[in-house]
Amino acid sequence: MALSDPPPATTDVTPRFLRALAHETLDRPPIWFMRQAGRSLPEYRELRTRAQDFISFCHDPEMAAEATLQPMRRFPFDAAIVFADILLIPGALGQRVWFETGEGPRLGELPSIESMADQVEASTERLSAIGETLKRVRAALEPERALIGFAGAPWTVATYMIEGRGSDRVRARSLAFTDPEMLDRLIAVLVDATIRYLVMQVRAGAQALQLFESWAELLPEDVFERVVTRPHAAIVQGLRDQGIDVPVIGFPRGAGALVENYAAAAGVQGVGLDVQAPAALGQRLQKTVTIQGALDPLLLRAGGEALDRRVDQLLQQWGGGPYIFNLGHGVMPDTPVDHIGRVVHRVTGL
Ligand code: CP3
Repeated sequence: MALSDPPPATTDVTPRFLRALAHETLDRPPIWFMRQAGRSLPEYRELRTRAQDFISFCHDPEMAAEATLQPMRRFPFDAAIVFADILLIPGALGQRVWFETGEGPRLGELPSIESMADQVEASTERLSAIGETLKRVRAALEPERALIGFAGAPWTVATYMIEGRGSDRVRARSLAFTDPEMLDRLIAVLVDATIRYLVMQVRAGAQALQLFESWAELLPEDVFERVVTRPHAAIVQGLRDQGIDVPVIGFPRGAGALVENYAAAAGVQGVGLDVQAPAALGQRLQKTVTIQGALDPLLLRAGGEALDRRVDQLLQQWGGGPYIFNLGHGVMPDTPVDHIGRVVHRVTGL
C-alpha cells in the first residue's frame, strides 16, 4: 500500500453473532445450532470411540476442542459452542454422574446441601479442563466466529440431581410444594457454582454465555418465577458484579406464555425460543431482547421442501429484528448431515 493511499475503511470484525446479541438487526441473521457437535457427525462418532466414557471426553481438552471445531470445519456457522455437558457441575460438587449407553444420564445419591456448599469453590477448579478447551478453541477459531460458553440452568440441573436420571421430573416438581426451602437451598448452591464456572469460562475465552433451562415446562407461574427467572437473574447479576460483561442467552425451553415475564426480568440479552413460539410473540420480544431459535429439529431431520419453507418463514417473520437463527432444541443424532448444510446455506448464502 502506498503512503498516499487513504487508510483502509475500518472493517468491523465484531463477530456477526455478537452484533446480533448487541441488539443489531443485520442483513442476515447469524446461525449456529444447539448440539451442532456430536453424534450427527461421523467424525465425532469416530473421535468418541477413543474416549473411555463421555465424562472423560468432556474433561479432555484436546478431544473436546476437536469436537467443538468439527462442525466449524464442515459448515460456515457463526458461533462455536464449547463441547461439555450441563451435568459436569453436579459431578464437580461431589455427586456421581455417568452415562448409560442408549439410556442417558445417571446420577448417584444426592449429597447433603451442606457438603455441596462447602465444595463450590473447589468445583470450579475441578472444571478447569473446560477452560483449557475454551483457550484452545479460541486460538484456533477465526476472529469473525464467536465462541459460546454455557452451563445448565439451576432448575434443570437440580431436576437431574433430584431424580438421578432423565425423567418426567415429578419428584423435582413436587419438591417445590413439599419442601420449597430445600429446593431453594439446592438452587442457591447451583447459582453460586454456576457463576464461578461461567466467570472461569469467560476468562478462558468465551465471548457469550448460554444458560440451558431445558425443563422450564409445566411450572406454575409463581414456581417458574422462583426456580427459573430469579436464579437466572441472580446468575447474570453475579457475572456483572465480577466485571463480566459478555452477553447472556437464556433458553427456558417450554416456558410458553411465561417467556415474556422471563425476558423482562432475567436480565439476559438473548432469549432462546422453542419450536412452539408464535411469530408474534417473537416479534414482541425483539423490541427488548435478541431472540434465538426455533426451527424444529424433527423438521431438520426430515428435510425436503417443508424444511426450506420453514427456514424462509423464520427468516421472514423474525429477520427484520435482532435474531439468531437456531433450532428450538438440539440436533437429533440421526440427522442427515446434508440437511444441516442445506439450512446453513439457505440462511447465509455460503
Ligand atoms: O454442541 C453442543 O451443543 C455442545 C455440547 C453439549 C452437549 N450437551 C454434548 C452432549 C451441550 C450444550 C449439552 C447440553 C445438555 N446436556 C443439555 C441441555 C440441552 C438439551 O439437550 O436439553 C442437557 C439436558 C444435557 C444432559 C445430557 N447430556 C443428556 C440428557 C444426554 C444424553 C442424551 C443423549 O443424547 O444421549 C447427554 C449426553 C451428551 N451431551 C452427548 C453430547 C454430544 C451424547 C453423549 C455421547 O456422545 O455419547
